[in-house]
Amino acid sequence: MFRMVDIIEKKRNGEMLSKEEITFFVNGYTDESIPDYQASAFLMAVYFKGMTAEEQGYLTMAMVESGDQIDLSAIEGIKVDKHSTGGVGDTTTLILVPLVAACGVPVAKMSGRGLGHTGGTLDKLEAIEGFHIELTEEQFVQQVNDLKLAVIGQSGNLTPADKKLYALRDVTATVDSIPLIASSIMSKKIAAGADAIVLDVKTGEGAFMKTKEDAIALAESMVAIGKQVGRNTMAVISDMSQPLGFAIGNSLEVIEAIETLKGEGPEDLTELCLVLGSKMIVAGGKAASIDEARTMLKAVITDGSALELFGKLIEAQGGNAKVIHDTTLLPSAKYQIEVPSLTSGYVTKMEADDIGVAAMLLGAGRATKEDEIDFAVGIVLKKKIGDAVQVGEPLAIIHSNLENVERSITLIQQHIFIEKQQVESPRLIGEMITG
Ligand code: URA
Ligand code: CA
Repeated sequence: MFRMVDIIEKKRNGEMLSKEEITFFVNGYTDESIPDYQASAFLMAVYFKGMTAEEQGYLTMAMVESGDQIDLSAIEGIKVDKHSTGGVGDTTTLILVPLVAACGVPVAKMSGRGLGHTGGTLDKLEAIEGFHIELTEEQFVQQVNDLKLAVIGQSGNLTPADKKLYALRDVTATVDSIPLIASSIMSKKIAAGADAIVLDVKTGEGAFMKTKEDAIALAESMVAIGKQVGRNTMAVISDMSQPLGFAIGNSLEVIEAIETLKGEGPEDLTELCLVLGSKMIVAGGKAASIDEARTMLKAVITDGSALELFGKLIEAQGGNAKVIHDTTLLPSAKYQIEVPSLTSGYVTKMEADDIGVAAMLLGAGRATKEDEIDFAVGIVLKKKIGDAVQVGEPLAIIHSNLENVERSITLIQQHIFIEKQQVESPRLIGEMITG
């Protein structure tokens, strides 16, 4: 048998661990036979010494096997999942699910609530009255077989090892270790039943990975893990130096998603959906090339079938499908308040995180896990990086149920930078990593 102290020492010395050693650690930490202090020392050793792709693959699969795994084998076809490392106003999942499903790729999506300042995919969908995210595994599979799409909350006991380890990393300064992040994300996707995985790794002010180098390293790690464990995995590096699209807030983002599915959405959000969507369709075996997939995606936008499928998803999960043609049926806020620019010039920088905080203060996100979200509220940007602005002209419109929104106004004014010299709009799509 192994002793945890030997495994820690081995990693501390920069040696490579075997599958059995890594599995021993994961199982022991999950069943509490290995104490926090040894797990902490181990995580810190990994933080400094790293892990090979092979070790990351072992860690990923040990975490997958620590709990339940969703069996999607009853769904015909290649199940492709998408994961984004998160950002402000990222509405892509709402759009991609019907878009890709309309092209024939089954989408069995397990999503989460908001972790950061703003709501997650589930919160956004719940802005639609009646929409429910609880289906049994059988109902989930059935709905995907019938309609090609379903979106639910995490059910069952998925990757308990990751949950425990993440909580420990949070308090031992070991969250920002690329091998640990990569195996954490991949374990959740694999446990949720993905055959193939398309990753959207964000970089910039509003992202988890602030620099391009780190974003690429994380993407490469996840793609290498995918290869190691037999899941076709690819990654796109995308810009999060400003919020995606214009809308930030749950109901507002549903409206933005509907507009995008009609072909009338913001340019950046639309483009990112086309890039990620075409990768999903090729991975799902429904197109031979990215160009062909892109043509298919554009066709299901133009002929309205993607939007119609979004309506079917809403209806199947208890919501009022009429919202796709009448967005006034969504919750709307009492007040719309302009955020005027304090100077004239060009927008040169946006601190997306802080704009997210401004939205959270209005009630669009949770400050603590127990907080209730106000679906109606949020922010609609009027300017993005590179745009000219005159003093007094609105930078954004706040949608609020509170009359006093001074703090949010100030936050937005402070974190949208305006200077005399124009800068170019940041490039949305960066490197593609396919391994
Ligand atoms: N997101 C995850 O799911 N895991 C990490 O470790 C970091 C971010
Ligand atoms: Ca948005």
